[in-house]
Amino acid sequence: MAKTSKQSGDSGEPIRWTTAMSVGVPELDEDHKGLIEVINLLKQHAGAEAGSDVIRQCLVSLMRYAQVHFGREERVMTVCTFPGLAHHQEEHRAFVDRMKEIDRRFADDPEGLSAFVAEELVDYLSSWLRHHILIEDMAYRSFAEHRMAEAREAARSFRTSQVWFSDS
Ligand SMILES: [Fe+2]
Repeated sequence: MAKTSKQSGDSGEPIRWTTAMSVGVPELDEDHKGLIEVINLLKQHAGAEAGSDVIRQCLVSLMRYAQVHFGREERVMTVCTFPGLAHHQEEHRAFVDRMKEIDRRFADDPEGLSAFVAEELVDYLSSWLRHHILIEDMAYRSFAEHRMAEAREAARSFRTSQVWFSDS
């Protein structure tokens, strides 16, 4: 199948992180840059002949990203006494649920679904970037700026071992 340009407003061009996307905490910005790298990799495969291996690796990366980054971010929000934490956690949970659901479908037919799943992920993650990172994450920026030392310490000290893995 020929590579198609994306519908739903995505140009197919790589996304570049800019300071306008900064949430004010360098460690969290680095996480967000990592997500953008995955989106750009998926963009290369959306609508094209996507190999199932690269899509599987992207799904693993995204689920790991969710477990590590969301844990780190929620810790920062906690030490900064961000009042929107509970709502924010719900959004993070919705992301995890969506990744698990896509992963389950993909596992049924990796070869047949690779290109479709790549497009679906690009759409979902591009929307996540616009609506979650640029709006919901931005809401904690001023709280983090008021407690930057605590925020950075919380972000830096977060360990992957603090993440609980659960299939429930
Ligand atoms: Fe977030």
